[in-house]
Amino acid sequence: MTDGRSDGDGARDTERVAFGRRREDRRARTVRIAAVGDIHCGEKDGGAYREAFARVNDEADILLLAGDLTRRGTPAEIDVVVKELVDVRIPILAVLGNHDHESGQPEKVNDGLRARGVHLLDEAPFELNEHVGFAGVKGFMGGFGRYTLTAFGEAETKTFVGSTLEEVQKLEYSLRRLSTPIRVVLLHYAPIVDTVMGEPEQIFPFLGNDRLLEPIDRFGAAVVFHGHAHHGTFAGKTPGGVPVFNVSMVRVKEDAGAELFYVHEIEVPAESAPAEPEPGVETPETAGR
Ligand SMILES: [Fe+2]
Ligand SMILES: [Fe+2]
Repeated sequence: MTDGRSDGDGARDTERVAFGRRREDRRARTVRIAAVGDIHCGEKDGGAYREAFARVNDEADILLLAGDLTRRGTPAEIDVVVKELVDVRIPILAVLGNHDHESGQPEKVNDGLRARGVHLLDEAPFELNEHVGFAGVKGFMGGFGRYTLTAFGEAETKTFVGSTLEEVQKLEYSLRRLSTPIRVVLLHYAPIVDTVMGEPEQIFPFLGNDRLLEPIDRFGAAVVFHGHAHHGTFAGKTPGGVPVFNVSMVRVKEDAGAELFYVHEIEVPAESAPAEPEPGVETPETAGR
């Protein structure tokens, strides 16, 4: 899906695709981002989401999957996920969730998604055009505020906290590589406590970690999407004022009133509006997937 242009040292591997045909004036001022996580497909869920996903082509310019696409991360389950996405023609970006790691085969999950043409944000950021880019990681747990777990004591505790810090560093690097002025962040774990409110307070530390906030606010992200907290709260804000949406499927259905995915619109300068693809430039329609 790359057009082969180099974006310089900071974003050499970043992919960029051309938009599809302009359909209406409204699209000349916005990029429509569809997002959902935690669909938790099992082997018997074939067909459960296919029709709803097909509608994303008309409703959004890009689809974000916020992890927990499967129940246990088996190759058979990711095959189901891929078939659910078969009709989607807009770019799809994804991060994995903890469930996608459960069988110890996250690379096979990634392989299945990659073969479908899904862009894995954990591997590289993605630039939709010269104005809007996407960075993402799975994230990890550890808690929020003054109760955040610190790397003190046993080696196991240090390893645990180190896993979160690694994710924070990966997100920081990914954001730095984006050359776009508008940066969108996709996570599985929550970066703020506001969007886990509603879950039992005892499990808050397992739902996310606010260390993820630092690069989000420092790079001035436009919006953050995450999953994982099925019974949390749909919308919140970082201390820096960045909107955060918990797009776990349950929240999208119950709080946003959507069938399957939440659609968020971002205003962009008119010159980055969807336009006719240049001859020879791969588009979601022409990319072989
Ligand atoms: Fe989940
Ligand atoms: Fe999860």
